[in-house]
Amino acid sequence: MYNSKITGLGYYLPENVVTNDDLKEFMDTSDEWIQERTGIKERRWIDPKTSDDSTSSMGAKAAKVAIERAGLTKDDIDFIIFATLSPDMYFPGGGVRVQDMLDMPTIGALDVRNQCSGFIYALSVADQFIKTGMYKNILVIGSENHSGGLEKSTRGRGVTVIFGDGAGAAVLSRCEEEGKGILSSHLHSEGKYARELMLDGPATGRWVDAIMEENNPDDTSYYPYMNGQFVFKHAVVRFSEAIVEGLQANGLQKEDIDMLIPHQANLRIAQFIQRKFQLSDDNVYNNIMKYGNTTAASVIIALTEAWELGKIKDNDLVVLAAFGSGFTWGSVVIRW
Ligand code: UT7
Repeated sequence: MYNSKITGLGYYLPENVVTNDDLKEFMDTSDEWIQERTGIKERRWIDPKTSDDSTSSMGAKAAKVAIERAGLTKDDIDFIIFATLSPDMYFPGGGVRVQDMLDMPTIGALDVRNQCSGFIYALSVADQFIKTGMYKNILVIGSENHSGGLEKSTRGRGVTVIFGDGAGAAVLSRCEEEGKGILSSHLHSEGKYARELMLDGPATGRWVDAIMEENNPDDTSYYPYMNGQFVFKHAVVRFSEAIVEGLQANGLQKEDIDMLIPHQANLRIAQFIQRKFQLSDDNVYNNIMKYGNTTAASVIIALTEAWELGKIKDNDLVVLAAFGSGFTWGSVVIRW
């Protein structure tokens, strides 16, 4: 059996910076409220007037960087896995769009619909394909265009201020060195909480026709909904469990963690986890202050930035963990 390891990393963010003060143009909010509750100072939102960025085009741009850094070309990639909750189209997904945009051979493309833990799930799937020997190099992408679908008014402020756009990509490659690369992944779900963080329509349970027919200005079913405090309480518990599970499976302790990359849902959640595991500031990487919560893109953008800043070195123990809508959560433990 082979191991898999990350050989290339890249990210792409839309140019348009939206500060907390900018949000005051269309809702009753404040920089103070947003920073105090979430740690966010600004986020990137695609500006459709000046940019043709989309979920898949941002994914393709991030992927290009990752492939180049892996020392490969698009023709070396055997498979694409694309994680998003905001595909350009209801169907098909983003993976096939990237295959086309990068003019890749007719390789397989799979979309993963696991929201905030989407990249963790995608990486785990890629790892299994490499372990079995089926593929050698897999492109794993997380990308989101949230801004196009957020409710930009006071009614939507509890959700809208948190989310940002962006994309990240990794190339996962076959590795024959023992004890290196992905050591384990653990995935979980608890679907009874599906409605605590969701977007109800359009979907087969809530088609656009039904929404239009009702023509009800109070209908918010086509905007994301989040029961914030409920999600927060579950997040801190599940994050911790997923990290402990990953460490235990490898006979490791919290002191062995060189770098923890938590999903960037809320700086307060990340700080809680940091305290719980008694990690120093050098052992946790956060960038939610600059980009907000980019859902399936958040872990891979943060991982790439941390690596670019020289915060991840050869042989480091890197732990990725995420929790979100579904509920779904999980962790990946990597020996770099
Ligand atoms: O990535 C997926 C996983 N997601 C998460 O893990 C997110 C978890 N949840 C959270 O991060 C927090 O619950 C939020 C940041 C979303 C919200 O913070 P909170 O401390 O739970 O606030 P809240 O929803 O309880 O709202 C408190 C007050 C309310 O006013 P009243 O009813 O007390 O008068 C809200 O209407 O704050 C109000 N509020 C705002 N005020 C100014 C809500 N959003 C805003 C806003 N600006 N943007």
